[in-house]
Amino acid sequence: MIKKRVSINVGAGYDVHIGPALLDTCGETLRQVLGECRLAIITDSNVERLYLDKVKKSLSSSGFESVSLTFPAGESSKNISTLSAILEFLAENNFTRKDAVVALGGGVVGDICGFASSVFLRGIRYVQIPTTLLSAVDSSVGGKTAIDLEAGKNLAGAFKQPEVVICDTDTLSTLNETELSNGVAESVKYGILFDKELFDEFAKSDLKSLLDDKEKLVNMIARCVSHKGRIVEKDEFDNGERRLLNLGHTIGHAVEKCSSFSVPHGHAVAIGTSMIARAGEEKGLTECGTFDAVKTVLEKYALPTSCEFSSCELLSSSLNDKKRKGNKIGLVIIESIGKCYIKEEPIEALESYIK
Ligand code: GLY
Repeated sequence: MIKKRVSINVGAGYDVHIGPALLDTCGETLRQVLGECRLAIITDSNVERLYLDKVKKSLSSSGFESVSLTFPAGESSKNISTLSAILEFLAENNFTRKDAVVALGGGVVGDICGFASSVFLRGIRYVQIPTTLLSAVDSSVGGKTAIDLEAGKNLAGAFKQPEVVICDTDTLSTLNETELSNGVAESVKYGILFDKELFDEFAKSDLKSLLDDKEKLVNMIARCVSHKGRIVEKDEFDNGERRLLNLGHTIGHAVEKCSSFSVPHGHAVAIGTSMIARAGEEKGLTECGTFDAVKTVLEKYALPTSCEFSSCELLSSSLNDKKRKGNKIGLVIIESIGKCYIKEEPIEALESYIK
């Protein structure tokens, strides 16, 4: 069976292991990376049911003592109360700086565990075990951690790189179509940004054949992770090139907000990416035909490419975007498939992209 390892050279550096059945051997992998320590497995109510026992078994057969905490699944748990519960749990269990947190789950689990690890005792180690396609290709790698505030998503957080990422591709088989397409949206993003060949592969393939062909799936995830790693290595703290990874996210975040977060993140990014492709073409910034190509691929994976919100609603939701710096916002423009750049625009110009 195919397995891949992608090295991310940020800070002390870490590996992303990608392949089937990796949960069965996660204890061995963590033993090699972490040495002797205690582990706190933090997960959500969906993932607990499916994978917690398997992970605990592998950890204990590698000699780890572990404790676990589960919180209700869903974005609404990514808040200060859950963060507080995780911190109290680590303290009650006398975790020290030698010990580590295991984030077992999707983006919500990974983001909140990373943040808890960055502040508990002013920083303890953590590892990511992503169980969704979106967290496998994007959020588990690169060290962005966060919780949501009443005022918006991911508004409090820290940069904290994991010690290792273990992506067991078998876990993706329990995802529903919405969750899978969510992850495809972020994966297609890497094709549009950096890799026309990857984009063309998405154009030729479909969800079923992607999941059925295990080798293709591992290769696709590894390719996305390599692109992300290369960017994060150059710009860990999101001041320059890393902002390219926000393709489709300015409008996407506005769509999420307008829908009170009922539109999932990947779907919102698909809408944002389509809108920026269309606006770019209209403004002569984007190669003709790009919008059609992007729309066709996204729709093939059951992703939306437009939304019901008015430009007025989207615009007012974009104004407190955390990517805004003063009166300017860096918009990611598609020059052609595989080639994008950041255009610093005054906030007032956003309207002309959203219209
Ligand atoms: N998800 C975008 C980033 O990590 O920068």
